[in-house]
Amino acid sequence: MSMRTHYCGLTTEALLGQTVNLCGWVHRRRDHGGVIFIDLRDREGLVQIVCNPEQAEVFKVAEVVRNEFCLRVTGVVKHRLEGTVNNNLKSGKIEVVCSNLEVLNASVTPPFQLDDDNLSETTRLTHRVLDLRRPQMQNNLRLRYKVTMEVRKYLDELGFIDIETPMLTKSTPEGARDYLVPSRVNAGNFFALPQSPQLFKQLLMVANFDRYYQITKCFRDEDLRADRQPEFTQIDCETSFLSEQEIRDLFENMIRIVFKNTLDIDLPNPFPVMDFATAMGLYGSDKPDMRVKLAFTDLTHVMKDVDFKVFSGAANMENGRVVGLLVPGGAKEGSGMPRSEIDAYTQFVAIYGAKGLAYIKVNEKAKGRDGLQSPIVKNLHDAALAQIVELTNAQDGDLIFFGADKAKVVNDAIGALRVKIGHSEFGKKAGLFDDSWKPLWVVDFPMFDYDEESDRWTATHHPFTAPKDGHEDMLETNPGACIAKAYDMVLNGWELGGGSIRIHREEVQSKVFRALKIDAEEAQLKFGFLLDALQYGAPPHGGLAFGLDRIVTMMTGSDSIRDVIAFPKTQRAQCLLTQAPSEVDEKQLRELHIRLRSAEPKVV
Ligand code: AMO
Ligand code: AMP
Repeated sequence: MSMRTHYCGLTTEALLGQTVNLCGWVHRRRDHGGVIFIDLRDREGLVQIVCNPEQAEVFKVAEVVRNEFCLRVTGVVKHRLEGTVNNNLKSGKIEVVCSNLEVLNASVTPPFQLDDDNLSETTRLTHRVLDLRRPQMQNNLRLRYKVTMEVRKYLDELGFIDIETPMLTKSTPEGARDYLVPSRVNAGNFFALPQSPQLFKQLLMVANFDRYYQITKCFRDEDLRADRQPEFTQIDCETSFLSEQEIRDLFENMIRIVFKNTLDIDLPNPFPVMDFATAMGLYGSDKPDMRVKLAFTDLTHVMKDVDFKVFSGAANMENGRVVGLLVPGGAKEGSGMPRSEIDAYTQFVAIYGAKGLAYIKVNEKAKGRDGLQSPIVKNLHDAALAQIVELTNAQDGDLIFFGADKAKVVNDAIGALRVKIGHSEFGKKAGLFDDSWKPLWVVDFPMFDYDEESDRWTATHHPFTAPKDGHEDMLETNPGACIAKAYDMVLNGWELGGGSIRIHREEVQSKVFRALKIDAEEAQLKFGFLLDALQYGAPPHGGLAFGLDRIVTMMTGSDSIRDVIAFPKTQRAQCLLTQAPSEVDEKQLRELHIRLRSAEPKVV
């Protein structure tokens, strides 16, 4: 007889009267004085096992089993007694009356109850194996698998083929620090783990594979957050001979199908498209959460000549910005925002570097300045006040917050405030939050960002991104004005994926390197293999990469991408389960030609 005939969670009334063999773990054991009930768990869910004292052998075993023991049960499927039916379980209408009970393996007492919802992440990650037994984690990882299956099916049908690229490679410039691997055979030399397969997928296009994809690990040594891991998984794609629009359509459709076929969710068709400048102008972010129905009003030009120095100073400084954020109903008597909330927001924006958070309550706009309530009103002239009310389209009972500073600070601070208010109790009550799926393409990114610290231009996406047609000539003369053929897919405020049309002509690539102050020698050293390949009739090509972990996190409604990765790292880039990273033997270090500096004085 086979060890198992059915799954616990799938044992239903269809099997009434039949004898089944089930295997699983003790989820809970209840001793009802005389009868022992065991909830047996396997990957499909729970089933109730009944152990009666008349079955002396069974009962003896049932008395000693404890949580997480691994059992094999033989028994007959029977109706549950009336009043004991559990409609939350697939197996909730039946129970299995046990005729043979075998302990396949005992368990020591688990450090926590598996259905405890208040476990710390440290506990969960330290005892990850038990944590993964929890139904939520089982669901998350299964959904992750389904997503990858849907992706593979979709891409396969369109002629994409999965090609593996090296893990031991050369540094790829995705903007993070590399994880390095020392070479034993080549003393003093290091591989880098790939930050993405970017350059290899471009080489595969030059090599005539036409359509490539890979679901693969990428490694980035960067500061970790809820949506970042040092090793994460990309759905990485590249095609030849398609336009930006065709590429976006193809992958937008993929995401729509993935959502439909896994969760039966209908995403909008088509996704809205917004250019980068508009996104920054209205939301202060290149990944705006479109569920929040609040937007900035730019007031920089209105504040140039007001007495209030905080505003006029910002309005006149280079890269300065003044914005208003209209909160409808925020100043309404009774239902508006309480003072304590406004004060809390002042503290909140300080996290993003804002030096304050001015606001105006619009009590009665027909009364002009007398209808506006705020300590800053006295320092703003009539024309400015009228403009504020008109441009924000403020109505009586509305509240307007203000941000004034360097544009970056204003965008970060008021952008975060916008999301915070949208998600708040007040925001939800005031109808400022639309709880649905809001995808968005953000397009027309600038080619370059100016890095003040190093006083030079850096690639906004990566240095292989093509400029818009006609912008090639500005690459070196006016880098700040160059727009890239780059695009990001955003969902509910998260960047799910991004990509671009690549440079396929060597002379354009060299121009971009020059704009980035990468001289010919350095370019040859770092990317010579790419520049060489571009010389052999490289086809026009482009693509993108999605963050698989992020997609599944959103789909499962998890707070962190760690909840959709079987064995993730902590915020401090450690694996609590295996205790990696860890020290290694002196012998290993010697073989790798490495001497640790920890004993030496620190070089600052
Ligand atoms: P990019 O760097 O934008 O582009 O990465 C693509 C997507 O990968 C996800 N992602 C991450 N997920 C978890 N943890 C991280 N540390 C992390 N970093 C990135 C995001 C992001 O949108 N080679 C280009 C793609 C291309 O041009 O084709 C690239 O890697 O969801
Ligand atoms: P003060 O004149 O410094 O008392 O500030 C008057 C109001 O302006 C207060 O509500 C401050 O929180 C606000 N404020 C100060 N600096 C800024 C800034 N950079 N942006 C927006 N509001 C500010």
